[in-house]
Amino acid sequence: MPSVVILGAQWGDEGKGMVIDIYAEKADVIVRYQGGNNAGHTVVVGGEKTILHHIPSGILHAHAQCVIGNGVVLDPAVLLGEIDRLKAKGLLTNDRQLLISDRAHVICPHHVALDKAAEAKKDTKLGTTGRGIGPAYRDKAARSGLRFGEFLQPEALRAHLARELPEANFMLEKYYNQAPLQLEEIYETLRGSADRLRVHVECTYRVVNDALQAGKKVLFEGAQGTMLDVDHGTYPFVTSSNTIAGAVCTGAGIGPNQIGRIMGVVKAYTTRVGAGPFPTELDDELGQRLRDRGGEYGSTTGRPRRCGWLDLTQMKYATEVNGLTDLVLTKLDVLDGLSSLRVGVGYELDGRRLNVMPSLAADYFRCRPIYHELSGWPGSVSGCRQWDDLPDEANEYIRFIEHYLHLPVKLISVGPGREETIVLEQPFA
Ligand code: GDP
Ligand code: IMO
Ligand code: MG
Repeated sequence: MPSVVILGAQWGDEGKGMVIDIYAEKADVIVRYQGGNNAGHTVVVGGEKTILHHIPSGILHAHAQCVIGNGVVLDPAVLLGEIDRLKAKGLLTNDRQLLISDRAHVICPHHVALDKAAEAKKDTKLGTTGRGIGPAYRDKAARSGLRFGEFLQPEALRAHLARELPEANFMLEKYYNQAPLQLEEIYETLRGSADRLRVHVECTYRVVNDALQAGKKVLFEGAQGTMLDVDHGTYPFVTSSNTIAGAVCTGAGIGPNQIGRIMGVVKAYTTRVGAGPFPTELDDELGQRLRDRGGEYGSTTGRPRRCGWLDLTQMKYATEVNGLTDLVLTKLDVLDGLSSLRVGVGYELDGRRLNVMPSLAADYFRCRPIYHELSGWPGSVSGCRQWDDLPDEANEYIRFIEHYLHLPVKLISVGPGREETIVLEQPFA
């Protein structure tokens, strides 16, 4: 089956953008299926960095058809900014290289205002990206969202705003003590954006299914990570979409039987941005060292990422809820020069050993990790391009992960650049 899902197996920022960019060279179609511009996917080519928030990370390859599926929520102004930046770099020369589902939902200015206001008022903050993601998905679930199909029609757009803005303004004014938003202003801005985006809008489920039926190579690009899934993550410290592999079907409009491989991208350690439980977090000098060496600052908000050891208990869970078939291991170079390494292999809660994460965040906060210790390696792995180039200790570290999870590692990355990788097997070889 020539379709491959690439998704985050931890709390996001595992390096999905980089992996998609590498695999896109041999792919025909790249599809985003959930999330919005809370995502920040980095691609580094020839030392030049491109950060993508809405647009699939395959866009740097002119041959690749990029699709934003119905499960995504889109901020038109952000998307247009991204399109303009790509065009300024001489990319996206054909508008139809990027297609947007007519069923995708629009993130409106009041969603952004409500996200920020809600976060500011909360005693226990989630640390959202403030991009309006939660309110946009809430409106979708409440059946009061704005889909791209209606967004393109001025009459329907105005009617939608006339219907929905009063409630948002009521909340902003009366509950959050914020200034209300002006309908005419929002309407004019959105209408202008709609005119520019019209050329990209398409019934994308058809495009994706046609590609699959024609035997084309399709890559599905996840955003966020498994532990941020609204059902399976560390609720309520999660995003508002399903991020696991199952979301490919609902967010792109394909059947489960169309999915070939499901590759989980995992950092050689763990990071998390925003609040929530994180048992293997290193709140010390070592955590700071990982942050410095890994450049662990958010691609979307610039916030410092929390850093810690790799947690194989968490990864086992991610393996199961996604049905992972393979792993991609990133940022191995960040562990260079540490004399010993730890990996989480269980939790202790109230004197009892747990081999799975508890469903309640309150319990997960109290879990203490149980570690297995391995040797680190001297020197740097950055120059390694083949398995045999890696120091023995790095090989052992990777073998331990593979054994523990019963999954093969198919790609190892040792630097942010496209070429700084050890490709053990190409999914589209
Ligand atoms: P994504 O959201 O999963 O696409 O990941 P991000 O782009 O938010 O964060 C990953 C960061 O790590 C980016 O700055 C990448 O350029 C960088 N990166 C990816 N792979 C490697 C690697 O193997 N080594 C190092 N040092 N950096 C990497
Ligand atoms: P990529 O695709 C890391 C986190 C936020 C916050 C929580 C909810 O780059 O891996 P939201 O704005 O979605 O309502 O915030 O989710 N979060 C991410 N963390 N990487 C991401 O995306 C994230 N997208 C959202 O920090 O804790
Ligand atoms: Mg990111």
